[in-house]
Amino acid sequence: MQSPLPGRDILRVEGLEVDFDGFKALRSLDFRVQAGELRFLIGPNGAGKTTLLDVMCGKVKPSHGRVVFKDSIDISKFQEHQLAELGIGRKFQAPSVFTTLTVFENLALSMKQKRGLLSALWAKTTSEQRDRLLHRLEMIGLQDKAAARAGSLSHGEKQWLEIGMLLMQEPDLLLLDEPAAGMTDSETEKTGELLHAISNNQTIIVVEHDMEFVRRFAKTVTVLHEGTVLREGTMEDIQSDDKVAEVYLGRRVERDA
Ligand SMILES: Nc1ncnc2c1ncn2[C@@H]1O[C@H](COP(=O)(O)OP(=O)(O)OP(=O)(O)O)[C@@H](O)[C@H]1O
Ligand SMILES: [Mg+2]
Repeated sequence: MQSPLPGRDILRVEGLEVDFDGFKALRSLDFRVQAGELRFLIGPNGAGKTTLLDVMCGKVKPSHGRVVFKDSIDISKFQEHQLAELGIGRKFQAPSVFTTLTVFENLALSMKQKRGLLSALWAKTTSEQRDRLLHRLEMIGLQDKAAARAGSLSHGEKQWLEIGMLLMQEPDLLLLDEPAAGMTDSETEKTGELLHAISNNQTIIVVEHDMEFVRRFAKTVTVLHEGTVLREGTMEDIQSDDKVAEVYLGRRVERDA
């Protein structure tokens, strides 16, 4: 399937509602993302950020509304694994790499292919696949650790490996939930650079709590609050917005009488 051109919506969310036994985790939520964007989703705890990612990857089904991927794919009609094949890749917060396998083997196993597990390893990869794998290895900054067991990596390195594994599936849209959580400052910085590099070719939606990280790397930020979009704009717009300060920072904005 062809990737949409930059400047076109890759994802449209219209009137989305998610109902958990009577509790509306998302309601009347409209949201659009253009192809090639690196979009940050922020908001207080319980705002619905993770639930929105869960809907977009097919893990949670909406009770109302629609999520349309690439103009024609109604995501509610597909299972999670089908959406992964259609080009939506999701990374959850905790890294889930195969700890006893090497970095290289983890990437090789993640390669998009219809082959058995054993034949997926290095010896049977084509030169085109090897090039792709080496390119990803370099992109995630783990070229010197290709032969290291994934279990021996630092927390940050595991996160990058998992992002690399996602990239081996060649998703058009990546959904990342707090990728920099628990990272050191220098790891956080490298993660921001990695997201920028990825967004040259793919669209990314990233949920993030670390405001310094968002300030440093975000172009467009969407603020969720109580299951719906409160504001959207540049980080500058968002930071100077009274309503955002009130709900997101959990304090009332002092105003002159
Ligand atoms: N499976 C579920 N069943 C019932 N309620 C749920 C379920 N999943 C989430 N919720 C509720 O939905 C609301 C939104 O949760 P969600 O995890 O999407 O928030 P979030 O913005 O990701 O928060 P955080 O910043 O803490 O990760 C919360 O009130 C949460 O308790
Ligand atoms: Mg969450």
